[in-house]
Order: sequence, then C-alpha cells, then structure tokens
Amino acid sequence: MDTPIRVHGLTKVYGGGFRAVDALDLNVPRRSFMGFLGPNGAGKTTTIKIVTNMLSATSGRAYINGVSVMEDPKTALADVGAVVETPEFYPYLTPMETLHYLGELRGLSSCETTNRGRDLLDLVKLTDWREKRVGKFSKGMKQRLAIAQALLSQPSVIILDEPTSGLDPRGMVEVRDILKQLHKLDVTVLMSSHLLNEVQEICTDVSLINRGRLLRSGSVADLLDEVKARKIDVRTLRPLTPDMFDRLRAVPGVKGFAVTGDLSFSLDFEGEEDAQARLLIELQNLGLMVVSFKESGLALESLYMSLIMESR
Ligand SMILES: Nc1ncnc2c1ncn2[C@@H]1O[C@H](COP(=O)(O)OP(=O)(O)OP(=O)(O)O)[C@@H](O)[C@H]1O
Ligand SMILES: [Mg+2]
Repeated sequence: MDTPIRVHGLTKVYGGGFRAVDALDLNVPRRSFMGFLGPNGAGKTTTIKIVTNMLSATSGRAYINGVSVMEDPKTALADVGAVVETPEFYPYLTPMETLHYLGELRGLSSCETTNRGRDLLDLVKLTDWREKRVGKFSKGMKQRLAIAQALLSQPSVIILDEPTSGLDPRGMVEVRDILKQLHKLDVTVLMSSHLLNEVQEICTDVSLINRGRLLRSGSVADLLDEVKARKIDVRTLRPLTPDMFDRLRAVPGVKGFAVTGDLSFSLDFEGEEDAQARLLIELQNLGLMVVSFKESGLALESLYMSLIMESR
C-alpha cells in the first residue's frame, strides 16, 4: 500500500522512565485524511514531534514517503507542511509579509510566494486582512495563517497537531471549514485531535490511541459500520403517544426508543440506509409529521469511550 506516513514500533520514554509513546504503529494511506485521535496525554504531540523531527525517539522508526526521518530528516521532511503547537509570528508583519519571509527561508522565489500567497490567503479567508499586522490577529486567525504557511511550498504531506485547540466555537468552525477544503488538494493529512466529533466530521480515516498505544485504526466509515446501533433523534409536529409505542417497536431495525420531549424522541436503530429510509416512512405513517430526523453520532462516542476505558 502507498503510505506517505509510516511509523513503526515508535517508543518515547521521557526522563523518569515514563513511556509517553509505546511501540506505536501508524500507517497513513496516500490522499487520506487521518484523524490521530486520543484523550489528553495520549501521546499525540509526542508522536507528531518525532515524525516532524522536533524530538528524538527512544526507539522505533518513522518514514515519510519512504525516507527515514531518523536517518535523513532533511529529505524526509522536504515535502511536509506542518502546524505543531500554537504558531508565533512576527507581530509587525502583515500575513503576506509573513509568507514572504517564510518563503524566502524555504527557497521560494518572491514571485512564487506572491502568487501562491494570494491563493492561500483566499483559502484561509484572510484576504481582507492582507494589509493588517499579525499582532492584531485573534488566535483563530493566527491558526489560519499557520495553515497557509504549512501549504506554502505545496507539500504532499500535511501534519497538524490539534489545529482547533484553544479556539472559541466560531474559530473552531472556521478552521474546520478550511481543513475540509484540503480534501480537494492532492495531499495526505495527519491531524491530531481529542474530539471525536471533529474527526468524524473532517477525516476519512482514524487511528485511536491511548497511553501511547494504538487501540484501533481504520476508515471512519468502517468504524461507523461497526457501531451497528445508531441513535437517531426525531422531532415531530405531533406527539408520540402510548398507543403508537407497539407499532414503533415493530418497525424493522428499531431496538428501542426514549421520549426526550413533548415533540421529540430518540431511537436506537440497527440497519442499513435503505432500512433507515423505510423507518422514516413508517414514522410518517404514524401521523407524527416528522420535522427532523438525524443520527446523533452517540453510538460512536460510546465505542470511543469503551475502547479507552478497556485500555486503562
Ligand atoms: N517533556 C516531557 N517530559 C516528561 N513527560 C512529558 C513531556 N512531554 C510530554 N510528557 C508526558 O507525556 C504524555 C503524552 O504527552 P503528549 O503531549 O504527547 O500528549 P497529547 O496526546 O498531545 O495530549 P494533549 O491532548 O493534552 O495535547 C503526557 O502524560 C505528558 O505529561
Ligand atoms: Mg498535544
């Protein structure tokens, strides 16, 4: 398989003998958007710093495009754009000046940076702020500029450590919207997060870690399939009344339900999409007048929690 990022048996023992990363394997297939998911202290940043050569490993290997980060970091990282930790920029430079400064360090011509910089500032929605000094920027705007600088040399591999962490809800949404745009580029992305919903929303694949160990890896779709019982939240114009309970239970795939409000209830449902479509028809046949019908993703949350609890 074509795997631009490959980590094998990676181990990091910090002073005092603490194993922050423990024989970790990680394979990121080409053009995938890998969510590197784990709770606080799981070892995400440590792993990412080793892969980007900011930290040395105790043992194990990391390869980018087949080149060992340990043996030839310069070549391995030549095609990588990264955002690790909250970026610091010179406060008196504008975003474009910042990109020019970084572009020069990376050997880009001024003309290349100008052209590419314009597109990138557009991508990260900073065009209106082109002439403003970065010192005035909010944390979310700085994070967006950090994403732009990571893309400056058109890398094929992008590595992001918790790109939405520390942002307010609006800042998170803005950064996530930009991350979703990366799917359109010909890139492979590794992004750490401790938020399951974020990974579910943005990523194609997920590697779940805890205590420095890999618990599960695979496509987000497969993981969702595995959690067969879905929670579906339903809102209606007419109330679900006790005389309907038996009919609701008899609908194929319905494993249970809970009334959550006068005009809302949630269903535990197990079945493929065609069965789910039939469920909606049955609900309409009950005369409930369905206003909204949507999966809440709670089932995946409980799988995530149970995998983490099991690993303790
Ligand atoms: N320099 C260090 N010395 C000793 N222990 C460290 C050091 N850096 C990290 N650790 C410990 O290693 C473990 C993993 O830390 P790491 O920062 O990699 O986790 P993380 O998954 O990025 O967590 P978070 O979600 O909080 O960012 C934590 O228990 C942390 O306290
Ligand atoms: Mg971290």
